[in-house]
Amino acid sequence: MKLFDASVYAARRANLMAALGKGVALFPGSVEQAFNYKSNTYPFRQDSSFLYYFGFSQPGLSGIIDADSGKSILVGNDADIEDVVWMGPQPAMRDRIKQIGADEFIPAESLHGYMHGKSIHYLPPYHADRIFYLAELLNKSTEEIKSGHSMELVRAVIKQRSHKAPEEIDQMEQALYITAAIHTQIRKSVAPGKYEAQIRGIAEGVAFANQARLAYQAICTIQGQTLHNNDYHRLLKEGDMLLCDIGAENIMGYAGDITRSYPVSPTFSSMQAEIYDLVLKAEMKSIEAVKAGVRYLDIHLGAARIIAEGLKQIGLMKGDVDEAVAAGAHALFFPHGLGHMIGLDVHDLENLGENYVGYDDTVQRSQQFGTAYLRMARALEPGFVITVEPGIYFIPELIDMWQDEGKFKDFICYDKLDPYRNFTGIRIEDNVLVTTDGPVILGPPIPKMRSDIER
Ligand code: GLY
Ligand code: MN
Ligand code: MN
Repeated sequence: MKLFDASVYAARRANLMAALGKGVALFPGSVEQAFNYKSNTYPFRQDSSFLYYFGFSQPGLSGIIDADSGKSILVGNDADIEDVVWMGPQPAMRDRIKQIGADEFIPAESLHGYMHGKSIHYLPPYHADRIFYLAELLNKSTEEIKSGHSMELVRAVIKQRSHKAPEEIDQMEQALYITAAIHTQIRKSVAPGKYEAQIRGIAEGVAFANQARLAYQAICTIQGQTLHNNDYHRLLKEGDMLLCDIGAENIMGYAGDITRSYPVSPTFSSMQAEIYDLVLKAEMKSIEAVKAGVRYLDIHLGAARIIAEGLKQIGLMKGDVDEAVAAGAHALFFPHGLGHMIGLDVHDLENLGENYVGYDDTVQRSQQFGTAYLRMARALEPGFVITVEPGIYFIPELIDMWQDEGKFKDFICYDKLDPYRNFTGIRIEDNVLVTTDGPVILGPPIPKMRSDIER
């Protein structure tokens, strides 16, 4: 396990205390989750906000940031002899608080008493056991707990965690070095006759060998038109496209989120090359546009226009490009958002409420199919890290439905789409730091030019 310097956590908690002004913020750490019976558990993942303020990635700890007393308190118990026998020696609580610059520790059983009569703030819980834990602790029903999270705390935590400090950027770079190693190994391994599972297995192996793991369920599929495809049983054949959306989470919990699309044959077909280059153009132009002060919604719509313009040149769309995008016709081929924030969570802070993370008073979520899925729309600020991930997909079921409905027939050349029904999909994704001067693509270069990924 690794920690930042104690001063980092102390400063983060002091910032939050100042933002809240009063009241007590409680951060219940995660506990082990049963896989198929109680003591056979899923790999443990600490809650990201607990990690951010209290650092430790062991189960059974909670944290208190008490703005009334000005104190930070770690909640948990020292290991007893049975714990030591089964899990080895653990740091004592009095040592733990020094490692993260906290003021005090209290045993888990004292927490209920500590909370009594205080104004408690907590974030929306997402594990059922944390809902029950809070209900018991705060003498409330589970329904009251589910709706009783503190919007003040939500807003303060989003504001703080959205801006990545230099030591966090270092960690994200590290996650991307591992992610780059994964994609390098994949690029060398793609070949007809292998299963998707073998390629995913390479990713798992490279991540594990680097003391990391995958930050989310890998998307590693020759059916990339299914956006969150989590099957891995298909055999790679000549002519297929393999879409690999795979990112590592490093030892400190920071995520990478990179997509590359590889031809299974040594080279792209001319049809694949044409669509690939268009996705790449949309990606690179969108990255160029990333800058503090620019609304991400506008960059998303810019990508949609590049895609619509390119598809018009290829002969799959027609009419006025601006009108097509305003109407949402491009979403037949690009039905998702351009990207999202990334950090300790791959969709950073998503559980605190997507609309509070990616939207504000000046930008409301669109109701239109496609653009409605955009997670990040508001003006970019220095220190944000976002993904840029346009794609073009041919989803036969969606094409058929829209054609039957006669939808956007002035913009879409349905009669030209037959040869593309089995095309599947292509996405290219990078992680970009926002600065006042423009974009910084994090991590080492991960090849994406056609000539660099053909064998
Ligand atoms: N890896 C999931 C996403 O790109 O949003
Ligand atoms: Mn991704
Ligand atoms: Mn992503």
